[in-house]
Amino acid sequence: MLSASLTRRGFLGVSVGALATVALASCAPAATWVQPDGTPVKDAERRRGGTGKVTTATLAAAPLVLDLAGKTAATWAFGSTPAPVIRLGAGDTLQATVRNQLDTDTSVHWHGIALRNDMDGVPPVTQEPVGAGAAFDYEFIVPDPGTYWFHPHVGVQLDRGLYGALIVEDPNEPLAYDDEWVIILDDWLDGVTATPDQVLEELSAGMGDMGGMDDMFMRMGNTLMGATSDLLGGDAGDVYYPLYLINGKPVDDPTQFTGKPGDRVRLRIINAGSDTAFRLAVGGHGLTITHSDGFPVTPVEVDSILIGMGERYDATITLGDGAFPLIAQAEGKRARGFAVIRTAAAATAPAADVSIPELSSSRVGTAQLLAADSRAALSSRQPDRSIAIALTGGMADYDWGIDGRRFDMTQPLDAAHEIREGERVRLTITNDTEMWHPFHLHGHTYQHQDDGPRKDTSIILPKQTLTVDFDADNPGLWIAHCHNIYHAETGMTTVIGYRS
Ligand code: C2O
Ligand code: CU
Repeated sequence: MLSASLTRRGFLGVSVGALATVALASCAPAATWVQPDGTPVKDAERRRGGTGKVTTATLAAAPLVLDLAGKTAATWAFGSTPAPVIRLGAGDTLQATVRNQLDTDTSVHWHGIALRNDMDGVPPVTQEPVGAGAAFDYEFIVPDPGTYWFHPHVGVQLDRGLYGALIVEDPNEPLAYDDEWVIILDDWLDGVTATPDQVLEELSAGMGDMGGMDDMFMRMGNTLMGATSDLLGGDAGDVYYPLYLINGKPVDDPTQFTGKPGDRVRLRIINAGSDTAFRLAVGGHGLTITHSDGFPVTPVEVDSILIGMGERYDATITLGDGAFPLIAQAEGKRARGFAVIRTAAAATAPAADVSIPELSSSRVGTAQLLAADSRAALSSRQPDRSIAIALTGGMADYDWGIDGRRFDMTQPLDAAHEIREGERVRLTITNDTEMWHPFHLHGHTYQHQDDGPRKDTSIILPKQTLTVDFDADNPGLWIAHCHNIYHAETGMTTVIGYRS
């Protein structure tokens, strides 16, 4: 029976499958992997067709000093943090010139977009890094409407100010709303307490066996002990951030959205953080989740939404009359990001430390509550291939990896997982660690089984397994990794590659 043999393969996949792939990778000529600039990639782009309409953007990565409510932070950014929103229609072409005015390599990755592989921005897998002083022209069709974002894919640059929203409009938008607000959440330390590279060094030194001390909530250098969350199944995060930003603004200088009472507003919420999940809620308002990672879901009413790093949710709210707090609780970290929604000029602004019942409500929006809308659901089909992936490692030795090995950026195809164009692929991802991870696959939007939402980034709790299916319709070499940038950079990364 097909399903029985698939299940068996799934169970054996971790050890036997991994060995088989290594053998193939080292004996077979490299040409059997579809190359990022190969013919199958060009053919796939040709099949996308597109509208022919072109939107251009220039992103200059450069040093910038931010004023964060009186604290100055020397960081790197694309002119501002966040960068101006890039907006275009589904099927349009984005031409983005990235100029590197930093003194180190960089790149730009277009998170969540099913784009041509050679434009995915992942050195050394899909391109050479953009060197200091150099430029790179990205050009690709954006096939699917939704809420996306962009950030570098070099080192731990994600934890600086180099990010922005990429909004792909649906020319036949079925959702009715009066206004829209793009909300980017971020955990911030760059130029205030440390640089991300210093944090990585500190974490990489390892915590050793902290013996019992993890019961204590405290800061040690740039690490945070005892940050725990039931929603995240234990350890919530390990990096101490002095600030949490919403659209680049800290709690003491909040960003404000101005609207009209009764208006239905579409919130496009993006977690650009590096080590923080946010629980977002609006005082006095319920939220209707309409999209997960860009794709429509059957609408669900909630009081708050849990958003891991790299995830996006769209939700609508119907504005009340007054001034209301939007709070992005840094889950488990006893701190928050804060913004204001105002519909009455005279209303007193809420205090930044206001407590709202929505944040303690049990109606928390997570992917588990969601089902793909019929427009987004995959066709029903048995998988042609199953790949088991284990998330491994831990804090003590800071040896985060996949299937027990740390990703080697210099040999990215060692231990790569093989798929073929046209297959329905099932990924079974098991979290073998003591901490939650936001797992992210490039170039594809999978569907949670059974009948769950379409997503490209998913929270996986400790000791839990997530099963997702996707159609292998975008040839190339795609990385999959934890979107905790410190975990990804230390080794919780792998490649899922097409063979031809
Ligand atoms: Cu947000 Cu590898 O990506
Ligand atoms: Cu992780």
